Amino acid sequence: MPFARINADPRVMEFFPQSLSRVESDDLARRCRDLIARRGWGFWAVELKGRSDFIGIVGLNEPQHRLPCSPCIEIGWRLSFGHWGKGFATEAGTTALRFAFEELNLDEVVAFTTLMNRRSREVMKRLGMVNTNRDFIHPALTPGHPLSMHVLYSISRSGWNEREEIKRESTP
Ligand SMILES: CC(C)(COP(=O)(O)OP(=O)(O)OC[C@H]1O[C@@H](n2cnc3c(N)ncnc32)[C@H](O)[C@@H]1OP(=O)(O)O)[C@@H](O)C(=O)NCCC(=O)NCCS
Repeated sequence: MPFARINADPRVMEFFPQSLSRVESDDLARRCRDLIARRGWGFWAVELKGRSDFIGIVGLNEPQHRLPCSPCIEIGWRLSFGHWGKGFATEAGTTALRFAFEELNLDEVVAFTTLMNRRSREVMKRLGMVNTNRDFIHPALTPGHPLSMHVLYSISRSGWNEREEIKRESTP
């Protein structure tokens, strides 16, 4: 199962407390599927265009932990290691943000990750998200845990609209 392989890959899971077992991965897949069936949105499967290869998940989620932004909707991503470095997370993230602002009419979307997750932070920046400078200790981790300190990025609906306007103006 490709999702289980992704969740068991220590390179992909470097900035999570642990990689997932097959059972945990299947459970996560089931929860993602159930949430999409119930609400119409969530962490979607990402496939390569024109092919059916599953390469990971990107999407929107309502964090269950109490965070400095709560209540909030986050955007997140997890791709197979072999598909990093090609812009796929940014492409799928743009689609997810479009859905958030144009279909769900949200006012804001946030993203958070552990301080050291440079690749994830770069995706946030490429999507036009800004660092709120409201770093926080993730409530699922003990304060001394090396992954506990998180950054919080955000994009507002007006920020999204401005970027879309700039894109439209620069398209011949
Ligand atoms: C976070 C993660 C999704 C980022 O993947 P990524 O491939 O680095 O991100 P993008 O899809 O935006 O691709 C950007 C890279 O593709 C390159 N690229 C090529 N074409 C591109 C395009 N059209 N648009 C944007 N970037 C492009 C960029 O130059 C950049 O390369 P570089 O990082 O080697 O400099 C990935 O590292 C991952 O799945 N990590 C594990 C899970 C994780 O940590 N998730 C976040 C938890 S909060």
